[in-house]
Amino acid sequence: MSPKIDLLNSLSEIEQSALIRISEAVSPEDLEALKISLLGRKEGQLSQILKRIGVVKSSERKIVGAEANRIKKVLTVALGTAQTNLETANKDMSSFFDVTLPGREQWKGSEHPINQVIDEVWQIFRSMGFTRVRGPEIDSEWYNFEALNTPLDHPAADQQDTLYLKNSGLLRSHTSPVQIRTLEKYSPPIRVLAPGMVYRRDTYDATHTPAFHQIEGLVVDEGITFVDFKATLSEFSKRFWGSGTKVRFRPSFFPFTEPSAEVDVKRIVIRDGQKVETDWIEVMGAGMVDPNVLENVGYDPERYTGFAFGMGPGRMALLKYGIPDLRMFFQNDVRFLSQLLHGQIR
Ligand code: PHE
Repeated sequence: MSPKIDLLNSLSEIEQSALIRISEAVSPEDLEALKISLLGRKEGQLSQILKRIGVVKSSERKIVGAEANRIKKVLTVALGTAQTNLETANKDMSSFFDVTLPGREQWKGSEHPINQVIDEVWQIFRSMGFTRVRGPEIDSEWYNFEALNTPLDHPAADQQDTLYLKNSGLLRSHTSPVQIRTLEKYSPPIRVLAPGMVYRRDTYDATHTPAFHQIEGLVVDEGITFVDFKATLSEFSKRFWGSGTKVRFRPSFFPFTEPSAEVDVKRIVIRDGQKVETDWIEVMGAGMVDPNVLENVGYDPERYTGFAFGMGPGRMALLKYGIPDLRMFFQNDVRFLSQLLHGQIR
């Protein structure tokens, strides 16, 4: 191989490997070091080659010299471009990471609003001497209807409203069957609260869900009167909805209570900094336990009397926290649940 070819080959190798190393450089320091090792006046690889130019025939030295110059230019341009790229990349990073931004908070949920309401209701009744009980979600026509003085031809027992299971049994359509189970299991004085899930053939929209919570209450003892009934539920309503709340008992009908009432509250809320009264809001169904119900479970209605009530914690949470859509309770969106931590659902 002629010395000319040999040197030209070496130059070509230097060019190839230098371009790769330049493209792989990750810092300006890398580039500076490369520049010295490639183009440095004394130790640079190009200079080393040119030192050997004496071995080439004088007529051919120009060719080798010109090639060395071309490569020097190419590498100088490549080093310059790489340098600019690194600088702008660093600038991009510093605008990407804004060190003055506050740290990102970890997402936290909180207790579900319905459970919060159940717990608040429970705390109030507990302080009045109630205990907590529960019954099965799959129940029979006897417990869900008949024992509660509701004949099976009553509209509530219709397939249109109640979810019947294939072979036998049904999904309870209210928590009132727990009244019967409690009367069977315990003896007076009875003061219980029974929160739980109930099921109805309902649409799924902003104000209906086919599965929802109820809280049942039952008091049975000797000498329980309508006064106990009104006083207990008035006291509860004021404690739960606020001390300025007005309570109204509106005559109603349930097959298992006589007389029956719907309890309405008129709350005082702050709107635009002003204290204003809301409209009357229906918050529970209630009444004196029907003597037929007591008889159905073997109690003497001449000796024992009582009252019962049922409320919907979903609806209560809706009113208390101003939640616009019942479906939000079932979506478990952590943004919704974490708002409760800060008490600011709007
Ligand atoms: N179970 C009734 C309902 O679901 C509510 C209720 C409970 C009424 C207890 C009276 C007494 O509508």
